[in-house]
Amino acid sequence: MAHDHQHDHDHDHEHKHGHKHGHGHDHDWAEMAPLLESEAELFTPLYERALNWLAKEVTEPGLIVDAGSGPGVISCLFAETFPGARVVAVDGSEPLLERARDRAGRQGAGDRFGTLAGELPDVLGELDYPADLLWASRSVHHLGDQAAALAACAERLAPGGTLAVMEGGLPVRFLPRDIGFGRPGLQARINVVEEERFGRMRAELPGSVAVVEDWPALLTSAGLHHARSRTFLLDLPAPVTDRSRAHVVAALTRTREVIGEDLDADDRATLDRLLDPDDKASVHHRPDVFVLAAHTVHAAVRPV
Ligand SMILES: C[S@@+](CC[C@H](N)C(=O)[O-])C[C@H]1O[C@@H](n2cnc3c(N)ncnc32)[C@H](O)[C@@H]1O
Repeated sequence: MAHDHQHDHDHDHEHKHGHKHGHGHDHDWAEMAPLLESEAELFTPLYERALNWLAKEVTEPGLIVDAGSGPGVISCLFAETFPGARVVAVDGSEPLLERARDRAGRQGAGDRFGTLAGELPDVLGELDYPADLLWASRSVHHLGDQAAALAACAERLAPGGTLAVMEGGLPVRFLPRDIGFGRPGLQARINVVEEERFGRMRAELPGSVAVVEDWPALLTSAGLHHARSRTFLLDLPAPVTDRSRAHVVAALTRTREVIGEDLDADDRATLDRLLDPDDKASVHHRPDVFVLAAHTVHAAVRPV
C-alpha cells in the first residue's frame, strides 16, 4: 500500500483486479478486507491520537460519518471515542460494510451504528441528516475529482460541523536502509515505483482531475474555515510483536505481487529473499524489523 500519498499501503495495493463493485477502477476492495482490517488494527494507536485531537475540537457530535470506511475499524473507534454519537460508515463495498457492522455489534455499539453503500461522493446525498463530523481516511484520493468530492462532503456538514480527511504523510518504513544484502535503500526505491503507480491510478480514475494536493487549500475552496493539519506517528520499534511482523510480511508480499515486476532484478531478488520463510535474513525472522509510519489529518469547519 503505498500510500496515500503516503504510501501506506493502499498504493501498493493498487490495480490488481478488475472492477468488482463499481468503484470505477480496478480495485477489489473486498478481497483486500483482511489486509485493510489488520492494518487498521495495527495502526489503532495512531488513529486514537488523531481522534483524540478531533475530540478536543468537536464537542458532542450527534452524527459522525466515515466516508470510505472500508471494514470500519476507524468507524468503530469513533463510536468508542464519542459514546453519544451515531456513526454511519459509507463505502462502495458492501462486504466491507458487513465487516464494519459486525465489528460495531461485537463492540456493543450496534444500536447507534449504521452503514450506507454506494459510490462516493454522490451517495452522501442519501444521508438522512447533516453530519457534525465527516471523516474520510485514504478514500478521497480514490475519487476522480478530489476538489468536487470535498465540496460534496462539505455540503453534507451541519453548520459548525467538521470535515477531517486523512491524506498524505510519509512512506512507511519497515527496515534499516542497509539490511546486509542487496543495494541499500530498497524501500525508497519501492516508494518511487509506487508513486508512479499512484499517479497512473489517479489518471485512470473516471472523471480524473489533476489538482495541487494542498489539502488545507482544497478544504478552504470547499467553503470551509479554520483549515489545519496535524501528523500522527505510528512508532513500533524493533523488536516487534508477532502481529506487527505478520503485517510487515503481508505488506511486503503485496508489494512483491503488485510492483515486483517494476523493480530491477537485484531489488526483486532482495525482496524475494526478505520474503523467504526459510531464510534467516528474511522479515519472518530478522530482529531489526520495525513499523514507522506517519499519517496527516487535515480538518476544517463549516461556517455557522
Ligand atoms: C484505502 S481504503 C481506506 C479504508 C479506511 N478508511 C482506512 O483508512 O483504513 C479506501 C476505501 O475507499 C472505498 N472507496 C474507494 N473508492 C470509492 C468510491 N468511488 N465510492 C465508494 N467507496 C470507495 C474502498 O471501498 C475502500 O474501502
